[in-house]
Amino acid sequence: MSSILSVQGSPRGERSHSRRLQEAFLKAWQGRDAGRQVLRREVGRVAVPAVSEGWIAAAFHPEPDARSEVMKADLALSDVLVDELFAADRLVISAPMYNFGVPSGVKAWVDQIVRIGRTFDFDPARQDNPYTPLLQGRKALVITTRGDRGYGPGGANAHLNHADAYLRTVLGFIGIHDVTVVAVENDEFGGESFEQSYQRAERALADLAETF
Ligand SMILES: Cc1cc2nc3c(=O)[nH]c(=O)nc-3n(C[C@H](O)[C@H](O)[C@H](O)COP(=O)(O)O)c2cc1C
Repeated sequence: MSSILSVQGSPRGERSHSRRLQEAFLKAWQGRDAGRQVLRREVGRVAVPAVSEGWIAAAFHPEPDARSEVMKADLALSDVLVDELFAADRLVISAPMYNFGVPSGVKAWVDQIVRIGRTFDFDPARQDNPYTPLLQGRKALVITTRGDRGYGPGGANAHLNHADAYLRTVLGFIGIHDVTVVAVENDEFGGESFEQSYQRAERALADLAETF
């Protein structure tokens, strides 16, 4: 049965455009089959801890089975977040652009789920290609909103868009290569330019809910 892990990245609640679009998408997608599951993981309004020295020592321990209880505790949340990724066959992330990248909660979540031995493997003997992604057969949808404009492919600000590139890179690194981005622009300008962009995204997401 299909299932989505939904990651909400905006610190804003009801005023968040990306969150509102994500909820509409999830509702439409779930409405197509009563058995479809959605698991939500809030990272915008609930702090996800940054990785610590203890976390790093535990994650990169040469013998994972020999981790101490303290080390296991350091990785406990990361284990839960990774399990959530594996439990779903689809991923939907909503993330506003913040300072040309993603909000810190989304970055913290990424740091928790990109885990050696869990979502990727590293074999230094394979000099040409030491990394093996461990997630397979999944696809992702990124719903993003931006204050300015022109960040899409070919746009005047495309070279400043580190958010989409970053998410595509980290998701690809763990094995999720099928990534669709739906964006709203012009939030800071408001008015018709924003409305048109928002409605285009609504239509794109309504179509995607049929096929995702
Ligand atoms: C801290 C902060 C940084 C932002 N940085 C950018 C930026 O680099 N580029 C941009 O176009 N908009 C930027 N914005 C505007 C947001 O991306 C925009 O308002 C977005 O629609 C907010 O998403 P939300 O409605 O889901 O919360 C920023 C907003 C905030 C609060």
